Amino acid sequence: MSAPRVLSGIRPTGAGFQLGNYLGAVKHWAAMQDENECFYFLADLHTVIDLPEPAQLRTRTREATAELLAMGVDPQRSTVFVQSHVREHAELGWILGCLTGFGEASRMTQFKDKGAGSVGLFTYPVLQAADILMYQADAVPIGEDQRQHLELTRDLAQRFNSRYGDTFRLPGQYVAKAGERIKDLQDPTKKMSKSIGGNGTLWVLDEPKVLTKKIKSAVTDLGREVAYDVEGKPGISNLLTILSVATGKAVPELEAAYAGKGYGDFKGDVAEAVVELFAPVRERFTALVADPGYLDEVLLAGAARAREVAVDTMDKVRDRVGLLR
Ligand code: TYM
Repeated sequence: MSAPRVLSGIRPTGAGFQLGNYLGAVKHWAAMQDENECFYFLADLHTVIDLPEPAQLRTRTREATAELLAMGVDPQRSTVFVQSHVREHAELGWILGCLTGFGEASRMTQFKDKGAGSVGLFTYPVLQAADILMYQADAVPIGEDQRQHLELTRDLAQRFNSRYGDTFRLPGQYVAKAGERIKDLQDPTKKMSKSIGGNGTLWVLDEPKVLTKKIKSAVTDLGREVAYDVEGKPGISNLLTILSVATGKAVPELEAAYAGKGYGDFKGDVAEAVVELFAPVRERFTALVADPGYLDEVLLAGAARAREVAVDTMDKVRDRVGLLR
C-alpha cells in the first residue's frame, strides 16, 4: 500500500503569509509530511489574476518558497514546486472548464464577493480543481474558506469519470476545522487576509514588537470577560481561537484560565504565544532567502517530480477525451 497523497497550494501574493495561512493551512501541511506523500506548490498562475508587477511576482515566488520551508515544509520529505513549472495544470484547467457550467462557476463566492473581475477570476476554481485532480490527491489541507472550491473539484471529478471512465480520484477530507478560520484583528467580521493587510493582519515575518503591538491594539468589545461568543464578542473569540490553535489548549480551558483576569493579561499572552510561534520562522527565513541557489534547486527538483505525476495523469486524460497522441 502506498502512502496517501496530499496536495495543497498557496498564492505568493501580498507582503508574505499571514497567521491565517499558517494556522488554517501550512501548519497542517508540515504535520502531514511523515504519513503521506505530499505535494505543495506556489500558485503563481492564480496570482497573475491580480496582475502583480513581474519583478515582484518573481521575488515573491522565491520568498514564498523560503517562507514555506521556514514554516516547516521539508523538501526532503515533500515535493515543493511552482504551479507554472508544470504546464499540464493549465491544460487540464481548460478541459475541466469545458465540463463546468456557467451558472456553477457564477455561484462561487470568491467571484460573487468581488462583484466583477476578469475571466481569470471567474475560472479560478476550475484551475484549482485541475491542480488537485492532477495529483490524484486523497486529502487537501486548506482553510475553511476554500471548502466550496473543493466541493466543485469533487463534482468535476465525478462528472469527468462518469462521462469518460474512471480517471480521477475524488479528494476526501479537508483538514482545517471551522475554529481555525482566523479573523482580521481590526475587523473581526472579516477573515484575516493577505489582501487586507494593515494592522489587522499578522504577517508571519513581522518583527516580535510589531506582532505584539498589533495584538495589543486588536479590536475588542467594552466588556471584561474573556469568553468565546462569536456573535457578541467576535474580537475576543478570534483571539481565543488564535491562542488555542497556537498553544494546542482547548478554548474552554483558556476561558477558565482567564476568568476574572480582564483583557490586558489575556492579550499579552496571545502576543507572547504568536511571537514564540513566528520568531524562529523569521530566523530560518532570513537564512533561506540568503541562499537563492538552494531555493532554485528545491524548486527544480520539485518540478521534475511533480511533472512525472502530471504527465502520467494527462496522458490518461488526453486518451479518454479523444485528443490524438
Ligand atoms: P491562499 O493563498 O489564499 O491561502 C492559502 C491557505 O490559507 C488558508 N487561509 C486561512 N485559513 C484560516 N484563516 C484565514 N484567515 C485564512 N486565510 C487563508 C486558505 O484557506 C488556504 O488553504 N485557492 C487557494 C490556492 C490554491 C490551492 C490550489 C489550494 C490554488 N490551487 C489547490 C489547494 C489546492 C488560495 O486561495 O490560497
